[in-house]
Amino acid sequence: STQPASDDVEESVHDMLRQTCRDFVEAQVKPVAGELDQTHRYPAELVAQMADLGLMGVMVPEEQGGTGMDCLAYAIAMEEISAGCASCGVIMSVNNSLYCDPVMRYGTADQQEKWLKPYASGQKLGCFGLSEPGNGSDAAAASTTATLDGDEWVLEGTKAWITNAHDADAAIVIATTDKSLKHKGLSAFLVEAGTPGFSLGKKEDKLGIRASSTGNLIFEGCRIPKDSMLGPPGAGFKVAMSTLDGGRIGIAAQALGIARAALETATHYAQTRKTFDAPIAKHQAVQFLLADMAVRREVAAHLGSSRPLSAHPGALLCRYEAAMLLTHRAANLKDAKAPYTKEAAMAKLAASEAATANAHACIQVLGGMGYVTEMPAERYYRDARITEIYEGTSEIQRLVIAGQLLKEMPA
Ligand code: CAA
Ligand code: FAD
Repeated sequence: STQPASDDVEESVHDMLRQTCRDFVEAQVKPVAGELDQTHRYPAELVAQMADLGLMGVMVPEEQGGTGMDCLAYAIAMEEISAGCASCGVIMSVNNSLYCDPVMRYGTADQQEKWLKPYASGQKLGCFGLSEPGNGSDAAAASTTATLDGDEWVLEGTKAWITNAHDADAAIVIATTDKSLKHKGLSAFLVEAGTPGFSLGKKEDKLGIRASSTGNLIFEGCRIPKDSMLGPPGAGFKVAMSTLDGGRIGIAAQALGIARAALETATHYAQTRKTFDAPIAKHQAVQFLLADMAVRREVAAHLGSSRPLSAHPGALLCRYEAAMLLTHRAANLKDAKAPYTKEAAMAKLAASEAATANAHACIQVLGGMGYVTEMPAERYYRDARITEIYEGTSEIQRLVIAGQLLKEMPA
């Protein structure tokens, strides 16, 4: 038959998306990524182009303003964009995973008309407020309050570290309606930027991802309509946790993009830079750095197979590929509507460690050129570091993985 198998069709759609993103990054993103980082400038024009490419609501159905693709497509697009500019990556990731996804899963039809369509199409931008100055890892301890007064909720408190804060048109805010109920007293709310009583703190001056804004969302007697609650009362923690499961796939993919960009920059440089009459790629010490950047592909390639890992001694290929397989596995599970909490946490943990290790090695391969802004290596190094912190630190990913493992293997 001339009809391609459905797997081939799927693969070609993903391949085409990867190529489209790669072309866009080469032509539009890479040339300005260094300048955006140095000037801390929000790249409105690139976000508009990402919207045109359908990247701001990848998994949202077309009738709701999105692109109607799957999570694997999202991971691929996130990796490609982040390989050019990790700030663009996080701007895209927050709008897709942390804003559109929960509105899609929990919003009523009326809420989706207002709070999803223009965001999934990229006309507007969303942000997600869970962390607070006093509670980051311990997200259930959120102390921002929501009190019902007549037909309105009144919000009081401060959300901290919020990505897209200064550029967003709306925020999802997790607040408590009853602190004594701990996480069961939390609910999610939709709040429009510019609502009286809602203001922003200063822009944080960050080590990396400096073209994305980060800051406090401050609520002082902020009144929002009663129908602004997203999901059922008391479901806020579940909304947040299930949202972060998907978000962690996006951050894993962001880290993959940085890990690959570092590997490509180092490999290219090693073949062109000469010392002692030879390209530095000829020196074994440099080869070892490159090999270490490419750790563990063999191990990852056999994840899930029955062959014991000891059957692959000395497997020293691609840290990047190991992380990629984990990320795509988590995305495939999400697409299959299977549980993926543990796999998303594993992907984020592995990919963020690959990104920081590869960025570190990339600087070493470039020597002095690795340390100056003329080359992107130092930016990769600074950008990579955040992937081990946000959407749950590496310690929190280990807690999530261990918690799931203990559930799977009761004594
Ligand atoms: N999906 C659905 N429900 C979940 C869940 C999940 N993944 N994980 C936990 N829950 C539910 C549990 O089933 C439990 O429900 P019941 O009470 O009904 O039994 C409830 O939530 C409480 O679970 P835990 O006891 O496990 O919760 P905990 O208080 O011990 O916290 C934690 C768990 C994993 C440490 C969590 O607090 C956490 O993930 N912390 C990190 C916070 C984080 O990642 N913040 C990121 C902010 S956004 C961001 O950073 C964006 C960005 O930079 C770009
Ligand atoms: P803490 O929770 O104070 O942790 C400090 C240290 O203690 C860490 O090493 C941590 O791993 C460790 N630790 C804490 N608890 C445990 C434990 N139980 N076991 C072992 N170790 C532990 N949040 C949002 O809600 N929305 C956003 O858009 C957002 N964007 C961000 C963007 C940036 C640039 C940054 C820096 C942060 C962002 N965050 C956002 C917040 C981010 O999710 C938190 O910083 C992160 O979850 C850690 O919380 P914390 O900073 O309060 O650290």
